[in-house]
Amino acid sequence: MAFSKNPGESTPGTVELHPPIHHEVFSASRAGHLDTRLRRFIYRPDRLAERYVKPGDRILDFGCGPGFFTREFAKQVGEGGEVFPVDLQEEMLRILREKLGPEDLLSRISTHRCEPNTIGLPADLNGTFDAAFAIFVVHEVPDPVRLFREICLLLKPGGTFFYSEPPLIVPGKEFRKNLALAERMGFLVIETKLFFVNRAAVLRKV
Ligand SMILES: C[S@@+](CC[C@H](N)C(=O)[O-])C[C@H]1O[C@@H](n2cnc3c(N)ncnc32)[C@H](O)[C@@H]1O
Repeated sequence: MAFSKNPGESTPGTVELHPPIHHEVFSASRAGHLDTRLRRFIYRPDRLAERYVKPGDRILDFGCGPGFFTREFAKQVGEGGEVFPVDLQEEMLRILREKLGPEDLLSRISTHRCEPNTIGLPADLNGTFDAAFAIFVVHEVPDPVRLFREICLLLKPGGTFFYSEPPLIVPGKEFRKNLALAERMGFLVIETKLFFVNRAAVLRKV
């Protein structure tokens, strides 16, 4: 089968390869908007953590930003657990560390700055994560298929993946396409739901 990279220019017998739709990276200069009392009230990150994170777990918070969700995951894993907040922007990770230090949570986190196209955590961590979160970030990633494959590799069999996207940026069709891609990378969609007004899904590593 031949492929055409340019939509509209395919010839009979070729398959159009539309590039993945991705959007601007949320700048660290606006990090303050991501950790507000209003946002805490709307999203209840504490309840999200209580639902999907257990004491002792190892957690991936991919696209963690300034640590709005990371903080609650770190509280929930307790002394015996570990959270890996991963982000493209060192500035986001710096803000996160500065916030979680005074809250005595730094010993539970290992920040990791990644490259746009790969999480890039050491291979010996593969198969060791209990749960992974990608909240409001996949639409900013250039290669979601590779991202889903890497998250799947990092999780233990049966591990949970919570995935959410904002509806104004990611239409239903794109979200469903991403869920289908994630299933091809080794996940099973357990549940689709609303996360406040956002699209969300809970997936399990098969
Ligand atoms: C809209 S913010 C969401 C932050 C956090 N999940 C929250 O909801 O509070 C998106 C974050 O994803 C990060 N990001 C964007 N593209 C990325 C990539 N390719 N790899 C890792 N992080 C990325 C951005 O730097 C930013 O911190």
